[in-house]
Amino acid sequence: MKKLLNIFLFALCIPLTFIQAEDQRSIDVRALYCTSRSEYPAQYYLDTYPAPAELQQMVQLETFFGQKKIAEIAHREHGRAYTIHTIPGFYFKPELDRVAGAQILQHIIEQEGYNLLFVPQKYIVGSNNDAWVAAQMVRNICEQPLNKLQIQQLCGLVKKSYFIDTHAGNILPMADGRVALIDTELDGFAHDKKVRIDGLFRMLCSLTMTSEARTFLMQEIERERFRNNYDAHSFEKLHIA
Ligand SMILES: Nc1ncnc2c1ncn2[C@@H]1O[C@H](COP(=O)(O)OP(=O)(O)O)[C@@H](O)[C@H]1O
Ligand SMILES: [Mg+2]
Repeated sequence: MKKLLNIFLFALCIPLTFIQAEDQRSIDVRALYCTSRSEYPAQYYLDTYPAPAELQQMVQLETFFGQKKIAEIAHREHGRAYTIHTIPGFYFKPELDRVAGAQILQHIIEQEGYNLLFVPQKYIVGSNNDAWVAAQMVRNICEQPLNKLQIQQLCGLVKKSYFIDTHAGNILPMADGRVALIDTELDGFAHDKKVRIDGLFRMLCSLTMTSEARTFLMQEIERERFRNNYDAHSFEKLHIA
């Protein structure tokens, strides 16, 4: 009888495993349409992008189990990125929608096999009324100009995601040859389907790159300009995914 029960439970687990795996890969496309930060409650992000238990515990310890707000222990470093000295390896940022943006970019990077692009892992820490994003810190940043292959993959990502916040402060070359995209707020995505692709590519021009990479980028801009087209097709695909 016990054996039968075990077989039954095992059989039940197989489809559940698949459902879970499927769930983890799917993007919450509603988040992409969310233009205002307040549209989703903190609890939604806490449930959807929870931090690993150890990180959550570290934050809870620092905030003395809710007695202090994260803002009281965090130190502003650059822009709207904060650090907590006792929790190394992470930047803390108050805008929760950054995790949804990171998911979108990560999904396309995996789907397209962009091996030179990297999005740091982002989680939600804290509680419903004091929730923050913890972003894995990129440590091996270097001054290297971007090469043609990196620009090629960035163009592909921009075209599929409509991500436009691609200035040098947000796109960091790493010593291992990859490029980190660290600023993934949903405000950094063009929400309008009528945005032209050459316009999206122009946002990449301020990055430091090799002359070969720049020639490639200019050619891509010209090509898209002459197509004089919106790439609504790939945009639709992103929403169906
Ligand atoms: N994950 C990270 N790794 C390394 N540096 C980071 C990371 N996140 C933020 N920074 C630093 O903090 C700055 C501001 O963070 P960012 O996410 O771009 O926020 P903002 O919306 O204020 O521009 C970045 O330009 C970078 O110098
Ligand atoms: Mg930034």
